[in-house]
Amino acid sequence: MEILHVAAECFPVAKVGGLGDVVGALPKYQARAGHFVKVIIPMYRTRFLYENQWELVHEGGQHIGPYHFHYSIIKEKTNKLGFDMYLLDIHGLLDREKVYGYQDDTERFLAFQVAVCDWLNKWQHKTDVVHCHDHHTGLIPFFMKYALEFRQKLSDIPTVFTIHNAQYQGWMSWDKYYLLPPFDTWKWGMLDWDNMINPLAAGIKSAWRVTTVSHSYLDELKSNANGLEKLFEYEKGKSTGILNGIDTQIWNPETDSLIVSNYNEEIVTEGKLKNKKELAGHFGLDPQKPIISFIGRLVGEKGADLLPDAISHALYQYNGDINFLVLGSGEPHLEHTLHEMKHRFSGFYNSYIGYHEPLSHLIYAGSDFLLMPSRVEPCGLNQMYALRYGTIPMVRSVGGLKDTVKDMGEWQGFGIRFHQPSVWDISYSVGRALDLYYNRKEQFDWMKKFSMQIDHSWDKSAQQYIDLYKSLKS
Ligand code: ADP
Ligand code: GLC
Repeated sequence: MEILHVAAECFPVAKVGGLGDVVGALPKYQARAGHFVKVIIPMYRTRFLYENQWELVHEGGQHIGPYHFHYSIIKEKTNKLGFDMYLLDIHGLLDREKVYGYQDDTERFLAFQVAVCDWLNKWQHKTDVVHCHDHHTGLIPFFMKYALEFRQKLSDIPTVFTIHNAQYQGWMSWDKYYLLPPFDTWKWGMLDWDNMINPLAAGIKSAWRVTTVSHSYLDELKSNANGLEKLFEYEKGKSTGILNGIDTQIWNPETDSLIVSNYNEEIVTEGKLKNKKELAGHFGLDPQKPIISFIGRLVGEKGADLLPDAISHALYQYNGDINFLVLGSGEPHLEHTLHEMKHRFSGFYNSYIGYHEPLSHLIYAGSDFLLMPSRVEPCGLNQMYALRYGTIPMVRSVGGLKDTVKDMGEWQGFGIRFHQPSVWDISYSVGRALDLYYNRKEQFDWMKKFSMQIDHSWDKSAQQYIDLYKSLKS
């Protein structure tokens, strides 16, 4: 099949979080299974752009409302990523260093989506499916069906819309209506939710099929979807949960060049210890004690606001028998608190505030436990990376975390699960982790070995998407 993925991020070209990881991995596994896969994202000014060879494949002109723009599309020449990687540039809008966070993000992603449709409209053939990811691409299924300029050629191309995170919806006021390409005005309701233009809702309503990145998340969205609960209930007939996988080539402790000592399940205890010593040395922690780490965006969704109290509470309650390490960036007040705490708890706690891809690999390898007290977690990749590196996940039972981590109290359980995103539940789980670390060494070693063998690779889920696409072929 021929598949076109459209997204805002794709690792290693541009990554802010898990969306980037997924859009860098799923297409690779689909291509390996014999499909013809293309990915297009905006051409941000990231390192990958300058370090690779590109060819110009298309140029065109479009407009958002009265504003005309010229766009160009380049393609990576060597199939380096295992699929065809395209970047779309719009001078003045997309040529920025960061992916998100600009005042004109609405206009930037609107222009990107219009340009992608314009490009598709110029193809001599029809692709088998257009697969859009998250709200930055949610208007594409709508434009393909109802925009006057595109609908004739594009309306019968199947679209799949994957929701990685329904917290962010790309809302814009109806004042911005004039920026949209002319469309069948009878269909304006497809864009609307609560008197706003809502690109996420538009994607859900207009796409042929909707998927979420885990089964449990799809269930949860019917009662907790940042205002879209009724829509998820209404559209349940065309919605499915397909669990994310991980790229086991990149995330492989046996070959990972970003860690100090490579290891497999046979030598997991020794291998992890060498990485732990490096990590502990670097952050002034004690390698004799368990290291519990957190990696992620410092936002309420991830329960990051609970960390300061949970860490100090656990350090007092368990007499400093533990080490904590945080790698993250996000809300400024949390960044500040988590940075300042290292003076107060020197020797027991440390943090790196910022984004650091190589360090994340060393933390997955050198930690004993990975804490994820998420309030909302559509899938979560960190717990799967942790498992792959023999690090025991301590997760709140929510969304994809519930679908991928089995508590050690269950038959063949290999992790620690707790129910509430609260300081108390985290602290209680830390107690369970300590008990495992100090008193049940054999079970702890077994869990590390066992967790490394769990298959979270993309093979199965990539095939589930293919089956879904095939079901849409007329
Ligand atoms: P989300 O996409 O909601 O942030 P995921 O668990 O799906 O959460 O994916 C997060 C990804 O981003 C993982 O690859 C994780 O290792 C990475 N990550 C998050 N924060 C950082 C950071 N500060 N430095 C390096 N990698 C990070
Ligand atoms: C989102 C979600 C995260 C998920 C990722 C990839 O950012 O917050 O849970 O793993 O997308 O699908």
